[in-house]
Amino acid sequence: MRLALRLASRGCGQTSPNPMVGAVLVKSGRVIGRGWHHRAGQPHAEIEALDDAARRGRSVRGATLYVTLEPCCTAGRTPPCTEAITRSGIARVVAAATDPNPHHAGRGFELLRQAGVKVGHGVLAEEAARLNESFNHWIVERMPFVTVKAAMTLDGKIAAATGESKWITGAIARRHAMQLRLGADAILVGVNTVLADDPGLTARGAPRPRHGPEGDVGIRSVRTLHLLRSPPHARQSPLTPSRSHPMGEGAPPCGTGEGDGLAHPTDSPGGAGARASSAPVKPIRRLVLDARARTPLDCRLVSDPWAAWTTVYVGPMAPEHRRDALARRVNVVVAPEVMPRSGVRGPRHRVAGQSACRPKLDLNWILRQLGREEVTALLVEGGGEIHASLFESGLVQRVAFYYAPKVLGEAAGRKAVAGAGFGDWPAVVSLRDIEWGRMGTDLLLTARVGPVHLEVVDGNRVCAASGHAACSRSPHAL
Ligand SMILES: NC(=O)c1ccc[n+]([C@@H]2O[C@H](COP(=O)([O-])OP(=O)(O)OC[C@H]3O[C@@H](n4cnc5c(N)ncnc54)[C@H](OP(=O)(O)O)[C@@H]3O)[C@@H](O)[C@H]2O)c1
Repeated sequence: MRLALRLASRGCGQTSPNPMVGAVLVKSGRVIGRGWHHRAGQPHAEIEALDDAARRGRSVRGATLYVTLEPCCTAGRTPPCTEAITRSGIARVVAAATDPNPHHAGRGFELLRQAGVKVGHGVLAEEAARLNESFNHWIVERMPFVTVKAAMTLDGKIAAATGESKWITGAIARRHAMQLRLGADAILVGVNTVLADDPGLTARGAPRPRHGPEGDVGIRSVRTLHLLRSPPHARQSPLTPSRSHPMGEGAPPCGTGEGDGLAHPTDSPGGAGARASSAPVKPIRRLVLDARARTPLDCRLVSDPWAAWTTVYVGPMAPEHRRDALARRVNVVVAPEVMPRSGVRGPRHRVAGQSACRPKLDLNWILRQLGREEVTALLVEGGGEIHASLFESGLVQRVAFYYAPKVLGEAAGRKAVAGAGFGDWPAVVSLRDIEWGRMGTDLLLTARVGPVHLEVVDGNRVCAASGHAACSRSPHAL
């Protein structure tokens, strides 16, 4: 199953809106076939493994199939995998995770059992769930899995009061942050970040991925750190001259449905390495929240060759001439506005210059829209106002905070999470499943958002939310 999980991770960044899935066929103690889902619209991992065994001239009759996700049982672009499995004579299926798609959950296992195939599941289920945490969230909630990423000083500042932020962290951390982008379907920033930094939001400089599960950025082990996993194997870095954007030249525009959608989230046609490398690379979209259409026309997101993958969300009151000028170059979506949540602190707590009292773009509406457009994994890269709004709306699932060994110490410095605050102390955002590691001289902390439920089992504190024997680990334990 570990091999199957490693194979599955090769699809990272490519299979969305489908999950990553790996499969290994074993007979008489030997691996006779292996495969993984390369990308949406291509064969499922099970079919890849069957094809691989056939190519090697091995009979799969009586073999055991180890697969990281429950085989699909509905017809999409390809017939259901359960049929291919029963037809092939495979005797036993061992799965890691049950398909969280409410239309599937458990039905694939049931059909296999009815056909006389032995079925086991739950092997390395936690690792499998972690691998597909974005898909698992999206398929149930119909909204993207949101990761907030920030690079900050030890006192939590992402920029000086002047807006200056280059460079807080060192080269290794910055390179790693590029890898995070490779696993995302879209990257979101606030307009102030565009005005201050003019970011390209590409994956420029991301190191070429390595096969195998281990990362290459100074982390001792990535046993449990999905975010630190080796980056996608297929997605191109803009360093590659012939396909000079992480979105990949020739890639279909987002929303045109390279994937097979909600009905068949585990769907895939088949193709081994050669087929995969000739297929278009899945684009990464770039999103800007900009109620008043202040995004400059000459900024990189609007004027670079990949402007077609930029979407600027503006409010209904945005000046028409600015909105139209942007719309000639990028996608412009008029989103509804809402007043900040009543749960946050009142006006007396507001910090001068912050926009807490103005209506804000409705993040719930925007994320639902993105979910419909099959954005399963959304990486948010600042600034502090956007982070705050997302936290206040309860829309963040994971954080990736890079800490530099520096102290800025400016009261007016920009905070990683700004806004008006969360109200009373019990309302603060809690984090769980905390993991950390070194990135050169910097530190990366990742965590799931949500309260920790501690249970005492055999005298030890157990993190019930994650099932881990401890909620935090030292870097040496990673
Ligand atoms: N170190 C890092 O990791 C990092 C990363 C990113 C940015 N930065 C720094 O952060 C600074 C910018 O951060 P910031 O906090 O000032 O601004 P920001 O979060 O980039 O942008 C905030 C602006 O976005 C617009 N907006 C639209 N919808 C919103 C919503 N629902 N919630 C909140 N804002 C919404 C608002 O302007 P309108 O009302 O006009 O729409 C708001 O003023 C820059 O100095 C940049 O260098 C650092």
